[in-house]
Amino acid sequence: MIFILIGYMASGKSTIGRILAKKMDYEFIDLDDFIEKNEKMPVSDIFKTKGEIYFRKKESEYLKKLISEKRNIVLSLGGGAPCYNSNMQAILNTGEAVSVYLKASIATLVSRLKKEKVTRPLVSHIETDDGLAEFIAKHLFERGQFYNLAHEVVSTDGKTENQIVEELVTTLL
Ligand code: S3P
Repeated sequence: MIFILIGYMASGKSTIGRILAKKMDYEFIDLDDFIEKNEKMPVSDIFKTKGEIYFRKKESEYLKKLISEKRNIVLSLGGGAPCYNSNMQAILNTGEAVSVYLKASIATLVSRLKKEKVTRPLVSHIETDDGLAEFIAKHLFERGQFYNLAHEVVSTDGKTENQIVEELVTTLL
């Protein structure tokens, strides 16, 4: 099986994915890390030097390669991955893939993202908390149509990492 975690930036995909993979004895792959390793450059530098369109093209290529070749993995995606280049369709058409949307509220995302902005080119320029909340609200509204196509939706607000992982194991197995 391939368990794919999707959701907005800072929704906990990588942290939860790593714990879930360990618990299930699956390989863990973070798509952004995979891109950085293969492109030999941090995501923020890819955005800066090659542009977002190049990043989206590579993101889609690596995602489609991974889901067609790999088995028994937990794969966490960058927040934008489900929303470009028919990636969500590819996920839904992969028989052995189960996707989960880790859903967090705007307030939770703002409080986490304001501390982690530097590494995220899409929000690094936003200066105030109100500006960040407004950006996330609009962005999430657009992206929700893709995220909500996931096979499962798990709300993460007010839950510990272990509680979320337990819920995922119960939902997925
Ligand atoms: C992006 C999210 C990032 C990374 C890139 C673009 C997005 O990943 O892929 O900066 O479009 O939401 P995280 O969701 O892990 O922050």
